[in-house]
Amino acid sequence: MDKEAAKHRIEQVKQLINQYNYEYHTLDQPSVPDSEYDERMRELIALEEEHPDLKSPDSPSQRVGGAVLDAFQKVQHGTPMLSLGNAFHADDLRDFDRRARQLAGDSIQYNVELKIDGLAVSLRYRNGVFERGATRGDGTTGEDITENLKTIRSIPLRMNRDLSIEVRGEAYMPKRSFEALNEIREQNGEMLFANPRNAAAGSLRQLDPKISAKRNLDIFVYSIAELDEIEGIETQSGGLDFLDELGFKTNETRKKCNTIEEVIEFVEEFQEKRADLPYEIDGIVVKVDSLKQQEQLGFTAKSPRWAIAYKFPAEEVVTTLLDIELNVGRTGVITPTAVLEPVKIAGTTVKRASLHNEDLIREKDIKLLDKVVVKKAGDIIPEVVNVLVEQRTGEEQNFDMPTECPECSSELVRIEGEVALRCINPECPAQIREGLIHFVSRNAMNIDGLGERVITQLFRENLVHNAADLYKLTKEQLVNLERMGEKSADNLIKAIAKSKENSLERLLFGLGIRFIGSKAARTLAMNYESMDRLKKASQDELVQVDEIGDKMADAIVTYFEKKEVLELIDELQQLGVNMTYTGPKLANAAEESDSYFANKTIVLTGKLEQLTRNDAKSEIERLGGKITGSVSKNTDLVIAGEAAGSKLAKAEELNIEVWNEQRLVTELKK
Ligand code: IVH
Repeated sequence: MDKEAAKHRIEQVKQLINQYNYEYHTLDQPSVPDSEYDERMRELIALEEEHPDLKSPDSPSQRVGGAVLDAFQKVQHGTPMLSLGNAFHADDLRDFDRRARQLAGDSIQYNVELKIDGLAVSLRYRNGVFERGATRGDGTTGEDITENLKTIRSIPLRMNRDLSIEVRGEAYMPKRSFEALNEIREQNGEMLFANPRNAAAGSLRQLDPKISAKRNLDIFVYSIAELDEIEGIETQSGGLDFLDELGFKTNETRKKCNTIEEVIEFVEEFQEKRADLPYEIDGIVVKVDSLKQQEQLGFTAKSPRWAIAYKFPAEEVVTTLLDIELNVGRTGVITPTAVLEPVKIAGTTVKRASLHNEDLIREKDIKLLDKVVVKKAGDIIPEVVNVLVEQRTGEEQNFDMPTECPECSSELVRIEGEVALRCINPECPAQIREGLIHFVSRNAMNIDGLGERVITQLFRENLVHNAADLYKLTKEQLVNLERMGEKSADNLIKAIAKSKENSLERLLFGLGIRFIGSKAARTLAMNYESMDRLKKASQDELVQVDEIGDKMADAIVTYFEKKEVLELIDELQQLGVNMTYTGPKLANAAEESDSYFANKTIVLTGKLEQLTRNDAKSEIERLGGKITGSVSKNTDLVIAGEAAGSKLAKAEELNIEVWNEQRLVTELKK
């Protein structure tokens, strides 16, 4: 085909594909079978390969063509991306209505829309072509995620008019895609996403657009931020109709209401219907419809006075508490976990909820076989809210914490001043296993390829009992393990050998001495320089060291008094494990800036279970993050443990990324 003919045909095929795409992904009304779509796509790709100069960035073949990035570019939003004030009760809406009427006059009409639970994005078009897509970021500066957004089929790469416009919308993951994604992740032993919002955010933060492309994201566009020519649009609802005409996907559920009571009715209706929608919504957005009135009402520093978001309460469901399972942690603490009749909450199937300790079981009067109300705190962490005492049948049974360790049967003790029950048997297999998992983790000996799964197997097969045994493993022993090939066995042996060269602080942290987090371990290693010297340090001497307090000093002395500890250290030394501080290598900036936490401002809130608050803090600081006490727009990340309260709420209000503890632990292990 000559060039002119090819050019003509390419334009034709692009238009056809765009039309098919629009019908399928935006209107949900495909007009041709998939085979026709695939055929045209193949034709387009072939033509573009033959004539590479005819390939344009708005070609539908480019939806997954983007290159892998090193980092996202920052973008300044021309019009800031604000967030909305929140309403939690009908009366908050009535107050909002009263204020709006005072400022803009009594004839107000509202446009009410679903509040889609995803993440806000901005899409910029120049002369009809999709040019740049960005995250909200802090509202003023976001990140350029154009290539990832291109993979969302309902985002037109070219509009049906040559307009220059910037629109805003919510990118989200449909419930079904979310479930399918988590199912695959579960099969692959990967961390599950806690909810569709996190999954959508995680997918759009991929530097490789091919990964985003597999995640089946979608979008609802909800406003026009900038538009060259005013098209006679006078209302929010008119704006949405105009966006429809341009080929964007807007949410069809919207309603004009003349009174706030009508709005409240809509809110109640959708609170009920919420569970049946194919995507998550977390509330209802109420907007003054007239743009002129919007202008009259203006903005506060943070949000418009012409709109408010009604937030639904966290979804609560009733299920049966089938059993209480006991887990023994690295330090011997026994944690009870409720085993629940599986139940779906906010997108995921919940099967377990931590009960923290015996006191909580008593306080909430929890019995086996009780009907319990469960919710996800902060939309993330499953929690038993209360027991439905009135639904008891008499079948329920009291639960008593055992007096013996569920793993080693030694007698449990309650240390004075602590709520937790502990197994204090140093030989307890559960503690040893958990201790080994800690020993190999990222901030400790950092042995690649050795995680919870392999350690559990090694332990089960009786191949390791203590840290020293890891250094005696042979390739032959490893290849016999499940899911372990020749190559991984080789790599693992190399990684284990390499860890022998680690500087002392890693070993010290890995040994899991009480109260010694990775920062304290480093301080000790720097000050004492060798294990031998540290072993001999007295309590008086230790407390002289900056940042080493009484409790830590005590713990260190007690630790090195134990015969089995000294034997283990001797054995490790004989096996070639380095016992000296070889820093400042560890403190070097390159290693720190590698980390996710580098230069981020992070808030820890709620109760952590796997780490102490101090350990979490020092780990994050070691990796270059800054911990602050309160959530503000400068916060980059909030880590929410159990029962997190107002800080978590604030983070959500400010649309700040929230992690649960598991996510933190996984990141720290990397
Ligand atoms: S309008 C000036 N409409 O909710 C702010 N927001 O704080 C204009 N959202 O960040 C936002 N669905 O991410 C609007 N139909 C909708 C929405 C919506 C979801 C999100 C958006 C925004 C947050 C509100």
